[in-house]
Amino acid sequence: MTPSKCLAVFCLALATLDNAPAQDIRLPQETARYTPSELPGYPLVERNCLICHSAHYVQYQPPSSPREYWDKIVKKMKHPFGAFFPDEDIAPMVDYLVKTYGAERARQDPQGVWPKTGQNP
Ligand code: HEC
Repeated sequence: MTPSKCLAVFCLALATLDNAPAQDIRLPQETARYTPSELPGYPLVERNCLICHSAHYVQYQPPSSPREYWDKIVKKMKHPFGAFFPDEDIAPMVDYLVKTYGAERARQDPQGVWPKTGQNP
């Protein structure tokens, strides 16, 4: 294709895009949010942990995971995965995670089923 033909095709494509009727796109309800909590780590996790992926990864961790496990996870998101949150956010986020999804949850699930989904993934 010559450069001018190529440009014409490109312009035609743009014009077509421009004339396309407005689409009504409805996305499914976002379900993989973090569980709301009074703990100070909740807003931090909302701010720092939804940038790269949903809360699914957190929800699918074993419910028996102890505090040290969450500490390692959060630190791993920073190094090597490159998350930007400040170091002082780590302790409150770990506290929220272990109390909401891990071993320090108030309500322990007797069957050890995965939190939130109620079934194994
Ligand atoms: C810079 C991007 C980024 C941010 C921000 C981030 N993560 Fe991740 N996270 C990743 C990547 C990449 C993976 C690995 C995905 C894979 O293995 O497919 C991951 C995986 C995970 C997993 C799965 C377990 C594992 O070890 O791989 C958990 C749990 C998790 N993240 C929790 C968090 C939490 C909690 C936060 C907030 C403190 C967070 N992430 C913020 C990039 C990020």
